[in-house]
Amino acid sequence: MGKEILKMANICKSFAGTQVLHDVNFDLRAGEVHALMGANGAGKSTLMKVLAGVYLPDSGTIAHNGRVIPLKGTVHDAQLDGIAMVFQELNILPHLSVLENIFIANEIVNKGIYDWKAMRKRAREVMDEVGVDFDLDARAGDLPVATQQMIEITRALNLNSNVIIFDEPTSSLTMQETDILFALIGHLKEKGVGMVYITHRMSEVYQICDRITLLRDGRLVFSDDIANVDNQRLLAGIVGSENTNQFPEKYHHEGEVIFEAKNVTSKGLYEDVSFQLKDGEILGFAGLAGAGRTEIAKTIFGCYNLDEGELLFEGKKLDVKNPVDAVRQGIGYVSEDRKVEGILAVRPIRENMSLPSMMTLGKGLHIRNNQEKDGVNKLIDSLKIKTTGMEQKIENLSGGNQQKVCLAKWLMTNSKLLLLDEPTRGVDVGARADFYQLIQDLVKQHIGVIVISSEEDELIGLCNRIIVMREGKKVGEFNEDEKNLKEKMLKLMLDI
Ligand SMILES: Nc1ncnc2c1ncn2[C@@H]1O[C@H](COP(=O)(O)OP(=O)(O)OP(=O)(O)O)[C@@H](O)[C@H]1O
Ligand SMILES: [Mg+2]
Repeated sequence: MGKEILKMANICKSFAGTQVLHDVNFDLRAGEVHALMGANGAGKSTLMKVLAGVYLPDSGTIAHNGRVIPLKGTVHDAQLDGIAMVFQELNILPHLSVLENIFIANEIVNKGIYDWKAMRKRAREVMDEVGVDFDLDARAGDLPVATQQMIEITRALNLNSNVIIFDEPTSSLTMQETDILFALIGHLKEKGVGMVYITHRMSEVYQICDRITLLRDGRLVFSDDIANVDNQRLLAGIVGSENTNQFPEKYHHEGEVIFEAKNVTSKGLYEDVSFQLKDGEILGFAGLAGAGRTEIAKTIFGCYNLDEGELLFEGKKLDVKNPVDAVRQGIGYVSEDRKVEGILAVRPIRENMSLPSMMTLGKGLHIRNNQEKDGVNKLIDSLKIKTTGMEQKIENLSGGNQQKVCLAKWLMTNSKLLLLDEPTRGVDVGARADFYQLIQDLVKQHIGVIVISSEEDELIGLCNRIIVMREGKKVGEFNEDEKNLKEKMLKLMLDI
């Protein structure tokens, strides 16, 4: 392992009087991948934003390349110093081109004007070195998330950063995209770049990280070599107790068919898909990104039209014209992309949670307000949402806690069918267990639940039946008791 290139000492940080980091120490060596782990709201993103210059700490020091750096709390200073961060919620300016995004605030200037030719050449060099390729003239916002992330990494490398922070980089990547990212991380390691890797996925930590630092409630729990940290110690450290059983017992009751898709096709999205959802069961959808799972869910939610086939809800032909219509008919959809579709960032938790239920709560304003507050508080409690209160703006919650609010808003409606698209993305292992329990409870109350997930273990742990999709087609369907289920699912998903 290389020499120490970074040392953060006794970092403290408060927001509006609430201390979220308490005397945290963290160090990084050249060529290491250092995992930063901990429950939602533990302070991971905040600690790294202090490092990246987004926040000024209340106290503490940061030494980089053996020199204590003056802290000004601007990203630009940190970047010039060679510290770059790929944010949990990516930081691309969607209306600008890829090239403009790579050089933003760092343009090459020649005789007082921007030298786009030189920038284009430099961008190509970095891309070649990294082994990525994308259209520099494309509008960044039109590109898939994985490409946007690669653009951010290219930007970091262009600045010759020797410290790169990845905040949950794989949470919106497919399996292949993750492989590409890991190859890139391996390459950067060889070049001696030190990397901080924030994730909730244990398997990734064991796959690519050299050391682990664990935070709980803003305090350092331990920092240790990966060889000394087994799964049990890690889980116990994150959850803060020995109880690390993730999946609750499944509910077994097969009732009437609640929902049915009969040979549905939406041209260009999916083709000839049929399935049934019965009362008392959880139905899972496995597949890679682009397999058509999200599109089917969004069709049920009124976002796309059917070209062929029909959908039946409680025995009647489903006719939803748009999402509002879908909510009125008792259908809820938790989006995989909370940034675009899920939240009103600058509005309080209370409003975010009660938005869909406003259409179904009681009529009188007074009753509505009380019902609303009761409901919101109950859910903050049961999902253990880490917040200063229901009036806190959602953008000030940690990533995982924002996701919990997205779930909660559908739990507040009286939905009869819930479509959950990657519901636990970014949610820590402890909170997942609570959430899984909640889902099992909903099913007992005769609410139909469909779960789309790119984590096979989650589908297997939660669902009674799993449908596998590939390239817009249904390619398999399994019961929970199928032998070697994971292997069979993967084979079908990947077509191997
Ligand atoms: N700008 C802010 N204003 C107020 N509170 C904030 C702000 N940013 C973070 N917090 C609070 O600080 C705490 C730590 O949040 P942080 O985002 O660092 O958590 P995290 O460990 O990254 O969690 P996750 O795994 O959910 O992403 C949370 O309680 C959060 O609500
Ligand atoms: Mg975070």
